[in-house]
Amino acid sequence: MSLPAADLSKQADHLSTMDLGVVLPATAEVRENHLFIGGVDMVELAREQGTALYVYDEADIRERLQEYRRAFESRYANSEIIYASKAFINKEMVRLVASEGASLDVSGGGELAIALAAGFPAERIYVHGNNKTPQELEEAISAGVGRIVLDSRLELARVSEIAQRLGVVQDVYMRITPGVEADTHEYIKTGCEDSKFGFTMREDFAFNCVEDVLAAPGVNLVGLHCHIGSQIFALHSFAEAIDVMVELIARIKERYGLEITEFDMGGGMGIAYTVEDMPSTIDQLAEVTIGALLGSCENHGVTPPRLLCEPGRSIVGTAGVTLYTVGILKTLPGIRKYVAIDGGMSDNIRTALYHANYEAVIANKAGEPRTEIVTLAGKHCESGDAVLLDGSIQTPELGDIVCVFDTGAYCRSMSSNYNGQPRPAVVFVRDGQARVVTRRESYEDLMMCDV
Ligand code: LLP
Repeated sequence: MSLPAADLSKQADHLSTMDLGVVLPATAEVRENHLFIGGVDMVELAREQGTALYVYDEADIRERLQEYRRAFESRYANSEIIYASKAFINKEMVRLVASEGASLDVSGGGELAIALAAGFPAERIYVHGNNKTPQELEEAISAGVGRIVLDSRLELARVSEIAQRLGVVQDVYMRITPGVEADTHEYIKTGCEDSKFGFTMREDFAFNCVEDVLAAPGVNLVGLHCHIGSQIFALHSFAEAIDVMVELIARIKERYGLEITEFDMGGGMGIAYTVEDMPSTIDQLAEVTIGALLGSCENHGVTPPRLLCEPGRSIVGTAGVTLYTVGILKTLPGIRKYVAIDGGMSDNIRTALYHANYEAVIANKAGEPRTEIVTLAGKHCESGDAVLLDGSIQTPELGDIVCVFDTGAYCRSMSSNYNGQPRPAVVFVRDGQARVVTRRESYEDLMMCDV
């Protein structure tokens, strides 16, 4: 795979760091030409900790969690925010989520193990996944997790069997694919009809399966769930999905006499990766979705259920940045300018996978305008290995510290050891203090599991 051809007519945007506005973490500032986040100098931090390095603005994560809770709970008291840990998880992140009073979505045994090890209350954990193994289900049920989100009929049978054997009754949701096309990348659409996730609405399959769930011993159906996709800007897609779900809730009440008391609307709220992106605000999301829920419930004559919202990216995406050191500069006349950094697709696969766009600056030239168009190439053995394609940046020189913004979601969690690259450390910064919350991997770590 090679890169798409560079647009040679593209001009650098001459913006400097603080012009990047919503793309920046909450506490970003420029002092004496250096980028600071959380009161910490990113150039010094890179020197101390080495690069590549994931840095999170702790205040930004906390603000986002509080903003979500405020936006939803102030409009509708019977609501709850669940952080989707697949976006970024480690033990400190789990503790932070707990301290902000949010719940946690895990999508398998590994994330569950991290959550439990960090002391997260099991009853506030929601377990997702389209193919949770019997072992993962048993781990979740025996830990006493709050809800298991059933994804199929086969899974229902497994949960029922395990719960009976353990002598418990497990509260469950059914994940429904509402048949709504969200306006986002094909790979991260999940609510449309051709999906491996959930119970399809086609030919009333989901509706008919409710009967099986109600009849299964050891499980207690309390709610429905849907998730229509990720990095969504158009809020009407959420409203459409909610409408479909409320209609289903009404039909379930009518046919089975069962009141569905909880509805999890999934996550999916988009963030600004570039200055051109215009995402909605968390407040607007709450306004539209709660409005849709209450309106639809009134139309269908059902009591509004507890509303759960399950964001991942919009909690951690903007808070996180990645620091790299410039190692090689290569100008191919008439083709493009390569700036090679000491990371790449192993710490950020999103550019190669989704043609994701980012904004970047040189942290030690942060007050200067971005006067060049470059490709930030990784250090891996693939032509398609780049983090930034034809982006504006300050004039690069060897040894510069590059900061790529908005890498807080799905970069660390999708990282790999490709080419034997140890994963970067994760540092939280706040009030002038930096603390390593996940240490950098060593060469020994690369061999730790070999026998
Ligand atoms: N709930 C469920 C059931 C999900 O599957 C997801 C994300 C979320 C919540 C959180 O969605 P968010 O608020 O983060 O959009 N790797 C891709 C994103 C995949 C999203 C997977 N599911 C990327 O890097 O863009």
